[in-house]
Amino acid sequence: MIQSVISDSVDKTRELGALFARNVDAPRVFALRGDLGCGKTEFVRGFVSKLNESEDIVSSPTFMLWNLYEINEITVNHLDLYRLSSIDDVLELGIIDVWETEDNYTFIEWAEKIEEILPKDVVNFFFKHIDENTREIQIETDSDVLIQTLKKFL
Ligand SMILES: Nc1ncnc2c1ncn2[C@@H]1O[C@H](COP(=O)(O)OP(=O)(O)OP(=O)(O)O)[C@@H](O)[C@H]1O
Ligand SMILES: [Mg+2]
Repeated sequence: MIQSVISDSVDKTRELGALFARNVDAPRVFALRGDLGCGKTEFVRGFVSKLNESEDIVSSPTFMLWNLYEINEITVNHLDLYRLSSIDDVLELGIIDVWETEDNYTFIEWAEKIEEILPKDVVNFFFKHIDENTREIQIETDSDVLIQTLKKFL
């Protein structure tokens, strides 16, 4: 099932991230797709800030491939595959074992580059740039709990 939400500000996109932090149990993988500057990192920032009592520790991993945030007992893996040239490079990181591990959340920007290895219960996001401050965010999931949570956001 696909649920679409409209965000009319960067704060609203961060709020959507925070909503997931409150409602989704780990382990869980989030596949974030959409053009440059459409809000993928801001979504992750909202999620992580919620877990981390508002302190902002997220940076865009474009030059790093994999950022790691440890918050209490929780680990957030933040990957940006924009510059990835081969799936093997990501397999070598051992990320598949990590994203299946208890207490790990994993966010993958440019997840379309590793479509064939994404887990079955991944939550798929499609971010679309509408205008300067507006983004359409489509969320695809089989989870009724997630859908109910999103309806609260609308
Ligand atoms: N509704 C909105 N939601 C999210 N970001 C918004 C919104 N309106 C404006 N913005 C701006 O758009 C930019 C989104 O940047 P962000 O780094 O999150 O994009 P990204 O999808 O991660 O891009 P990249 O693929 O380059 O990593 C920020 O500068 C933010 O201030
Ligand atoms: Mg980004």
